[in-house]
Amino acid sequence: MKISCYASSFLDIAEDAAVLFCHKSKRMEGELLEKIDILSGGAVREMFASGEFDGSAGAEAVLYRLPETAAGRVILVGLGDKKDNDFDLFRQAAGRTAKTAFGQKLKSVALYYDGPATGSVAQAMVEGFLLGGYRYTAYKTEAEARKGGIESLTMVVANRARLEQAKVGTHRAEVIGWAVNQCRDLAGMPGNDLYPETFAKEAKRLATESRFTCTVLGPEEIAREKMGGLMAVGQGSERKPRFVIAQYKGQANAKPVILVGKGITFDYGGISIKPAQDMGEMKGDMTGAAVVLAVMAAAAKLKAKVNLIALIPLAENMPSGHASRPGDVITSRSGQTIEIISTDAEGRLILADALDYADKFKPQAVVDIATLTGASLYILGYAGAPFVGTNKTLNDRLRTSSEATAEKLWQLPLWPEYADQIKSPIADIKNSGGRPAGTITAATFLRKFTKDWPWAHIDIAYCDQEPSGKPYVPKGPTGFGVRLLLDLIMNWKKV
Ligand code: BES
Ligand code: MN
Ligand code: ZN
Repeated sequence: MKISCYASSFLDIAEDAAVLFCHKSKRMEGELLEKIDILSGGAVREMFASGEFDGSAGAEAVLYRLPETAAGRVILVGLGDKKDNDFDLFRQAAGRTAKTAFGQKLKSVALYYDGPATGSVAQAMVEGFLLGGYRYTAYKTEAEARKGGIESLTMVVANRARLEQAKVGTHRAEVIGWAVNQCRDLAGMPGNDLYPETFAKEAKRLATESRFTCTVLGPEEIAREKMGGLMAVGQGSERKPRFVIAQYKGQANAKPVILVGKGITFDYGGISIKPAQDMGEMKGDMTGAAVVLAVMAAAAKLKAKVNLIALIPLAENMPSGHASRPGDVITSRSGQTIEIISTDAEGRLILADALDYADKFKPQAVVDIATLTGASLYILGYAGAPFVGTNKTLNDRLRTSSEATAEKLWQLPLWPEYADQIKSPIADIKNSGGRPAGTITAATFLRKFTKDWPWAHIDIAYCDQEPSGKPYVPKGPTGFGVRLLLDLIMNWKKV
């Protein structure tokens, strides 16, 4: 899809469709709507009067071949109730529009805006359109199913004086939309094609395309690094672990910000095997890894002014004659010994080594993101992600980015009581604290492998998947976390 941005009057838009967003209102509002009403012979006023179209979220009206109008059709799209600065209304409305445009088999679409905060609104609209129009067709062989659909998307602003802002917003949105959809593609890729080696290749591909550096440690180097957690998790599979170190330097002489992502390319549970029901979902257990990779790629493309490192431990948690057993005691890279209670609590084992590895870069902050615990379903469901953090400033920044991106976060406590649950009688620590507060005990485990740098952990088990479909999040992998962490990075200040 070609994406561009220009200034024009609404009536001169020459695309297949010119889209006008309207807030909810009891009667028609605004000069442009008046004009469209006249051109449509009073149809718009009639629709407002009957309530057929009133600008509610989800409302939509199509007007074909209006006189004096260059576009083939005008689409009125409801935004819902007007709230100050609620960019997410625009994101949602544009997400719905993308689906409509696909349904109408349009080739070119123009989104029109004339109002305040042009840059941010343009960004939200283009973002929503790119995210809402996402489909995963990599495994469809029929030409019809693979067809690209919309060829060009244009952001049109009325006011030439606001064109520069609109261009900046549109460009950001193009990169962000691309990055989120890259993440979704990776998360949706089946385990027969995506495994540690091929994931590392994807990382190299993105590094070349987006200009960051990428080093991949293979099984021998992982052993040399004494990453006992990663080795223990990966040893059951023929497909050996990898460890990806990606770096982008956007600032001279500053300590790096480090992102760590869980990269289990398939989680069978190991010897503590998972039930067959829905096991296929576990192809998405590398979503944290995909998120940090996508953030890295977008940050590099947008030339973020920060030094960024992504650390990605990759393994397949497969049961076999070579697999780790429950009861095994392993030594992590940090030197701490871990009793494996459940081989299905594998994410924390590979993250422990990655967090320990992070310390050698003397980071200013570390954020990890992982599909870590099924228990998070019982905390926030699919709607958002629980997180924990050790530094108030970093926690607040995450909340600010959460507000800005509408990727919802809620903080959980790290009370000392929880540490008792992961004490082992024979090793330094054990990898499962049982059912109570499973999300927090997993986080408490991870904390043992951090140092005194600010650290936060985001558990995206479940919000990585959308069960039914939302305006700009189609059913399937959501890419949750990419926009959130990118916002954090783009607005980075020393903590
Ligand atoms: N990858 C799973 C967590 C998960 C479950 C993500 C369902 C998405 C949907 C993780 O490795 C896991 O198996 N966690 C266990 C931990 C337990 C054994 C302590 C869990 O949550 O049941
Ligand atoms: Mn598991
Ligand atoms: Zn897992």
